Amino acid sequence: MAEHTVVLIPGDGIGPEVTGAVQQIFAAAKAPIQWEVHHAGLAALESGSDEVLPRSTVEAIEKYHVALKGPCTTPVGEGFTSVNVQLRKRLNLYAAVRPVRSMPGVPTRFENVDLVIIRENTEGLYSGVENQLTDDVVMSMKIATQTACKRIAHWSFRYATLRQRKKITVLHKANIMKITDGLFIRCARDVHQHEYPNIEYDEQIIDAGCMRLVQHPERYDVLLLENLYGDVVSDLCAGLVGGLGVVPGANIGDDMAVFEAVHGSAPDIAGQGIANPLALLMSSVMLLNHLAETRNDAACAKVAGSLRKAYDGALADGEKTRDLGGDLDTEGFAQAIIARL
Ligand code: NAI
Repeated sequence: MAEHTVVLIPGDGIGPEVTGAVQQIFAAAKAPIQWEVHHAGLAALESGSDEVLPRSTVEAIEKYHVALKGPCTTPVGEGFTSVNVQLRKRLNLYAAVRPVRSMPGVPTRFENVDLVIIRENTEGLYSGVENQLTDDVVMSMKIATQTACKRIAHWSFRYATLRQRKKITVLHKANIMKITDGLFIRCARDVHQHEYPNIEYDEQIIDAGCMRLVQHPERYDVLLLENLYGDVVSDLCAGLVGGLGVVPGANIGDDMAVFEAVHGSAPDIAGQGIANPLALLMSSVMLLNHLAETRNDAACAKVAGSLRKAYDGALADGEKTRDLGGDLDTEGFAQAIIARL
């Protein structure tokens, strides 16, 4: 079977624990993947690099086009720029995709959530372009370009069409940020009207949209948001389906993709062996499906299908980690999946 080389970035905190579990599961599933490990984040500094995002890591992703990434810690209120922000910008991974669905065996307030968050990944306030203007005044710049707004709108409508999704809802604050968010919705509207009139389209002001999301999440299909809103609403939606342990993600550009869970490095539980590896495993299934589609490799699709069946079955039978109300640790959950393959 042909093997695909995929860059593996273990990351910080619980990163090495959850990436290790996925590697174990992939080996047992005989996934046609060969990992090439590169570091980023605090782990890169610890491995001797003087940069949190070493050039060799970026070059490896440029060479192999696909990576699986564990979370990287970003210091709060000081210190270096987020590795995630740097990576997404340097590789132009402009679309973040985060499917959020109700999982079997994970009881929550809602049973039928099935939505996808698409987040513009390269600009907006989340870029962290900030300045100290005077002793008293600090400033953060929200930059939006027509190029990036059009690009993410096109990408979203194409995604919705390919995945047979029916509706795109843009959450925005264009009543206040008339120029920047105004540009975002004008681009989305334009792409909808001229190129994808058959997909239902809706715009909601984000504050009221968040209220509606937590009241009736089943009414949403694809959500399209600028960078910062996408970051916040992703965690909100994770809360609708059982938490950060069950929400996968991908950062996608024109010819590169980095797959990672929505959650962070979880320093509060790091090193205890209790992190839930499922969100990263689900991200890895997205990675396999991406390889199946872009490289026309049916073997990847087959392994993806059997992994999905294995984790859906495990959850349905109550085999889950503590964050989901179960009693398994990271290793126990990995073994439960392996036993089902
Ligand atoms: P977090 O997602 O790391 O943790 C939030 C809460 O969820 C914690 O109580 C944590 O224990 C729990 N949690 C997260 N993932 C879990 C898992 N797989 N299994 C069980 N419990 C899990 O968010 P937080 O605390 O805001 O951020 C911690 C660090 O992670 C920060 O430095 C932040 O910048 C970074 N971060 C990195 C991301 C990335 O690399 N893509 C994404 C989000 C945050």
